[in-house]
Amino acid sequence: MTTTERPGTDAERLRDRIAAELERTRARTALLTDAVDDDDLVRQHSTLMSPLVWDLAHVGNQEELWLVRDVGGREPVRRDIDDLYDAFKQPRKDRPALPLLPPAEARAYVRTVRDKVYDLLDGIRFTDRRLVEDGFAFGMIVQHEQQHDETMLATHQLRAGAPVLDAPPPPEPRVDVGGEVLVPAGPFTMGTSTDPWALDNERPAHTVDLPAYRIDATPVTNGQYRAFIADGGYDQPRWWSGAGWQHRVEAGLSAPLHWRRDGDGWAYRRFGRWSAVRDDEPVVHVCWYEAQAYAAWAGKRLPTEAEWEKAARWDPATGRSRRYPWGDEDPGTGHANLGQRHLWPAPVGAYPEGASPLGVHQLVGDVWEWTASTFRGHPGFTAFPYREYSEVFFGDDHRVLRGGSFGTDRSACRGTFRNWDYPIRRQIFSGFRCARDAGDGE
Ligand SMILES: [Fe+2]
Repeated sequence: MTTTERPGTDAERLRDRIAAELERTRARTALLTDAVDDDDLVRQHSTLMSPLVWDLAHVGNQEELWLVRDVGGREPVRRDIDDLYDAFKQPRKDRPALPLLPPAEARAYVRTVRDKVYDLLDGIRFTDRRLVEDGFAFGMIVQHEQQHDETMLATHQLRAGAPVLDAPPPPEPRVDVGGEVLVPAGPFTMGTSTDPWALDNERPAHTVDLPAYRIDATPVTNGQYRAFIADGGYDQPRWWSGAGWQHRVEAGLSAPLHWRRDGDGWAYRRFGRWSAVRDDEPVVHVCWYEAQAYAAWAGKRLPTEAEWEKAARWDPATGRSRRYPWGDEDPGTGHANLGQRHLWPAPVGAYPEGASPLGVHQLVGDVWEWTASTFRGHPGFTAFPYREYSEVFFGDDHRVLRGGSFGTDRSACRGTFRNWDYPIRRQIFSGFRCARDAGDGE
């Protein structure tokens, strides 16, 4: 970005882009909340999730706090509801009992906030404060809403009752792909200092030197995961960590979430419809403990976060790290299964154009991939614009997931983007791939 605004050029283009992103995002939010009736909107479909109407007004409240009040310096729209929609003050399980805005009021509220945002966007100078440089605060709010759209999609997946969402199936495989890829030893650049809408936990860029390793060319498929189940994987503590086995017993885990036995095979429920489990699709709805147990059974391990990112971004021809596995350009429909265009992961081999230079497929889109790593700040991390975005989650409690899922929007998914969750969670669209150390001399 330039440091002085030139009307009709950079600042104008940025304004147009922000407006388009806000609009595109709100259309998704509307689709997810208009798909059900008011009873369904205010109901809690799982204690893990908020009522959809909470997500809706919370999205508007964050937009009011950051854009209307902070960036715009405008009067509050509804200061009285700030506490109700503060995710730190209100645990998810308690949210249905709160005096939430009813659906019609919630919709009117987010509309009022958005109108004020469009109004202030008209006169904004993107050079006045770090918060608005390159449109960062707007990008943060777009990504926040998109993240809630993925959360709302997960709520839809947990919802009982007749199906309300529909989408065409993902593309069929175009290449045969499987096995492992060798990633040679050496340094690469992890994280970013330049991607304008990258969040604090993706920064700064820094060098990480890794020994050689092998990583699966695709996410672990349902067919591979079924072999683990059939081999008694869920019955043998030796494949599980101590905490993992304890959770497996207490929670009674015996297969991925949303699976059930169907004769000799398995069926799974996707947004209210049952279908046969397809062997060549990446497995989804497994927790970190299940991923870790599978990897041990397969004689492998989960990749570290750095190993995942090097496989995704490092270009051996230039030595530099790309924004995405396929290059620096934003994701197109041929690159990855993102953005809720489809409602489940694509079979492996469906996105050859999205492969990394080393030939690792479907790193972005389809399923979030659990990594071995706990969530920490990169070396040189500084919280921006607030500690609660990510710093308060650093520590041993959360494991990092990378790459986004079919439910993740492209604006909330980069080669550097980091997600995190508890190792027991599996209502998210989570899968994994495996890795292992390379042998001597490789
Ligand atoms: Fe939020």
